[in-house]
Amino acid sequence: MQNETLKNIFVTGLRNAHAMESQAESLLNRQIERLDSFPDLKARMQAHLQETRTQQSRLDQILADLGESGSTMKDSALSFLGNLAAAAHMPAQDEVLKNSLASFAFENYETAAYKSLITVAEQVGAQNAIAPLKQSCSEEEAMAQFLQNNLDSVTKRYMQMSATGAL
Ligand SMILES: [Fe+2]
Repeated sequence: MQNETLKNIFVTGLRNAHAMESQAESLLNRQIERLDSFPDLKARMQAHLQETRTQQSRLDQILADLGESGSTMKDSALSFLGNLAAAAHMPAQDEVLKNSLASFAFENYETAAYKSLITVAEQVGAQNAIAPLKQSCSEEEAMAQFLQNNLDSVTKRYMQMSATGAL
């Protein structure tokens, strides 16, 4: 990687993605706690929590290969998605709906972030980073797709439970 400015663009993108995944982890943890009435959604969230931790490790590895670290202190300084995360843990009767909408937005944001980062990796010739970034990107896309597919049934279940006083 010859050009320092371009390398910095890549490192900054990787750190932003790392901060995004830290946010994803806390978002998922908070939602999973309160999803007992929605077992399918809960199970998928738990699976994605594991994926999220693996995605963090991939970013750590890419940063380490560049001689950089993905520290958690830097993550908190970069928590630009704080508002979305806050919206997603406000307790309310319709929180499962709000969380499903926020999660769909979040997973699409993550997909876009990885797509952009893959372009940067290609442009700077970071060959070893491309495959792991593509893997993470496809996991985010799959999660967004699941949430989209699941929105209809979550909405109906929420309405039914509310109507019968089960929520
Ligand atoms: Fe994700």
